[in-house]
Amino acid sequence: MADLAELEQKISDEIAAADGLTALDNIRINALGKKGEISLLLKTLGKMQPDERKTFGAAVNQLKGRVNQVLAARKTVLEDEELDRRLATETMDVTLPVQADPANQGRLHPLSQVWEEVVAIFADMGFAVADGPHIETDFYNFTALNIPPEHPARQEHDTFYFAPDENGDRKVLRTQTSNVQIRTMQTQEPPIRIIAPGRTYRNDSDLTHTPQFHQVEALVIDKTTTLAHLKGTLEEFFKAFFEIDNLKMRFRASHFPFTEVSYEVDIGYTRKGNQIIIGDGDEWLEILGSGMVHPNVLRNCDLDPDVYQGFAFGMGIDRIAMLKYGIPDLRAFFDADLRWIDHYGFAPFDIPSLTGGLSR
Ligand code: DAH
Repeated sequence: MADLAELEQKISDEIAAADGLTALDNIRINALGKKGEISLLLKTLGKMQPDERKTFGAAVNQLKGRVNQVLAARKTVLEDEELDRRLATETMDVTLPVQADPANQGRLHPLSQVWEEVVAIFADMGFAVADGPHIETDFYNFTALNIPPEHPARQEHDTFYFAPDENGDRKVLRTQTSNVQIRTMQTQEPPIRIIAPGRTYRNDSDLTHTPQFHQVEALVIDKTTTLAHLKGTLEEFFKAFFEIDNLKMRFRASHFPFTEVSYEVDIGYTRKGNQIIIGDGDEWLEILGSGMVHPNVLRNCDLDPDVYQGFAFGMGIDRIAMLKYGIPDLRAFFDADLRWIDHYGFAPFDIPSLTGGLSR
């Protein structure tokens, strides 16, 4: 019996010292589990005399009951402590500002924004989006566009050339999106109405030029397409793009090998401080090149110029982005500076659309 008292004391001390629910449960298993110290005592009953068995059995069962009580009491204390600890560490300050949703923290580059705006406007006018390779043959970038070898326009383009292949042909990084005109006319039957936004490359770098930049080309070919359609298309586009009602536009006679007649188009603006206000005023900004597709270009694509005619234009996307959003230095577009993107960028889920609004 003295042994029982000692055992009880030992288990009680252990219970009192248990510092967590797992430790407490281990003590329970060591005492009352199948092979626990108290359970093993009960197994010795079989070998005892009936009298001894009776008293010893009763004593062990009482011990078991008391140990269970002490365990339960300690468990309640430990659970309360655990709860207090969690309440203390998991407090929430409801006066803290709400954290921005990470998906809304990113910003869309102004170029991506303007690209989407351009596509939305032309899509509304019934233009499909076409694309072509950036690494282009001399034929598609120049010759088919009525720029034969030795033509001075080739020098003006500051072309990036690849090393000649086994036939001596040198591919180029396309200097203009006009290559898509040729590829489209070769693969589609008129009527054709496409725009081709994309990357272009020239060996040039200053405040308004970067070696890689962006253009959007437009091409319309049909039997009755005229200069009036070109003018109407551009007027609609610029009003929608600059989100203005009044637009002043000027067609200046120019020259491009792939158009006849050719025009450079200027839009009117005024300056207020260092802000440029598009649409009215006495100053002019050159904004694109355009014209009626040259008969030679049609012939190069197996289209009969006596049957088909059309217009084309090419415009710098970077340039119209700078104008619309007042961005002074083109090179910053390519710096990947997060502070710049935070300042000039757009909320990623505000998809530009004519009904929902282009910019906000
Ligand atoms: N490809 C010309 C350039 O890069 C722009 C251009 C001018 C495109 C007149 C055209 C056009 O389609 O008709 O400077």
